[in-house]
Amino acid sequence: MQTRIHRSDSVLVDRIRAEIAEHGPITFARFMELALYDPEHGYYMTGANERARGADAETRLGWEGDFLTAPDVHPLLGMILFRQIREVDALLDHPRPLTVVEIGPGKGTLVRDLLHACSRSDPDLLTRLRYVLVERSPMMRRAQEQMLAPYERRRNHLQWVTAVEELGDRAVTGLIYSNELVDALPIHRVTVRGGALKEIMVDVAGAEFIESLADPSTPELGEYLRRQGITLPEGYTTEIHLEAVRWMKSVAQALDRGLLVTIDYGHTAQDYYAPTRRDGTLLCYSRHRIVRDPYTMIGEQDMTAHVNFSALALAGEEHGASVAGFTNLSHYLIGLGAEELLADGSFDSHDLRRAAELFRPQGFGGTFKVLIQQKGLSAPTLRGLRFRPFFDGVLDVRRSDA
Ligand SMILES: C[S@@+](CC[C@H](N)C(=O)[O-])C[C@H]1O[C@@H](n2cnc3c(N)ncnc32)[C@H](O)[C@@H]1O
Repeated sequence: MQTRIHRSDSVLVDRIRAEIAEHGPITFARFMELALYDPEHGYYMTGANERARGADAETRLGWEGDFLTAPDVHPLLGMILFRQIREVDALLDHPRPLTVVEIGPGKGTLVRDLLHACSRSDPDLLTRLRYVLVERSPMMRRAQEQMLAPYERRRNHLQWVTAVEELGDRAVTGLIYSNELVDALPIHRVTVRGGALKEIMVDVAGAEFIESLADPSTPELGEYLRRQGITLPEGYTTEIHLEAVRWMKSVAQALDRGLLVTIDYGHTAQDYYAPTRRDGTLLCYSRHRIVRDPYTMIGEQDMTAHVNFSALALAGEEHGASVAGFTNLSHYLIGLGAEELLADGSFDSHDLRRAAELFRPQGFGGTFKVLIQQKGLSAPTLRGLRFRPFFDGVLDVRRSDA
């Protein structure tokens, strides 16, 4: 009989089972960490054994992989981020170097598109640019090195680190951005039973992984909800993004002056924890199909949860990065001049149809949000925030300790 865990990476399954046998049930965050980032068998990692498994960056991201990101669809986002870089460069009075950091660059497509736009229209800026790629996966880093090989000549301007913390506190004057990174950070899953917050744990029964409930593994889970003024109703199941909050803290600390731009699918806390979203947002992706079961194809399918942008805004504020604005991808692209870029005659009708995907209200255009935070700039006027589908303050949360 085939079990639910068939087509999983068997070594990874054995590792998770061994950890549970030794320590007891693990949090979902730990399960997700292992499934995606086990150093050798995680979905994004597949170190030394990747060829044996037939895995590489192309089997993960892109048309031949499990899911598409905006840069796979069209180079427009890279071109727009180049405009964002120029804007921050002017706001900072053209520093030398201007540091640009992408966190979680995947195959490196966005960096390539952005550097291409820069070398075509502002070679002088390219000479002042220090570009840092923050990537924890050796497999993804190899793909990025390959993608950026044409920029080999400028190699001294490209630098890789495995974690934001390696940059050091206040090391960046410029821009730190990410696209579809935060949704891939491990999340805790919780539910409410008998009026009490319970955490969903992962356990083993025979050949299968099963879920069980326990008291929260850390008081931070309850605090996260309390600080955002959220009370969950009985039977409600959702996610808590402690890793994303920790990530935001390190990113805000790494920035000295400039902007943080976070692009991803997600919601304000109010929408995330709306009474109608009773089952949370956890999803898996395989071959462009949604899979609702995280206990199948372990290590072979992507796993993701939507982003709570209010939690990121709050965490940034606590570490000196204040919200400059919040919009959706469509409005961000249009604000920075997408129509003008697409009308310059360099794209054929096929390219333009693809670009239109980035503006679809139920797709990239509306579901993806853009959070811009700033440090050391006084109330900057940003073109990407010219058009906003939300009121100012939409990310604000009622803080019970305020
Ligand atoms: C979904 S992909 C995003 C791809 C890319 N940004 C794009 O737009 O196509 C997530 C990427 O983030 C990397 N990653 C995950 N957690 C990370 C972390 N804590 N620090 C740096 N990179 C991370 C993964 O290895 C992968 O390259």
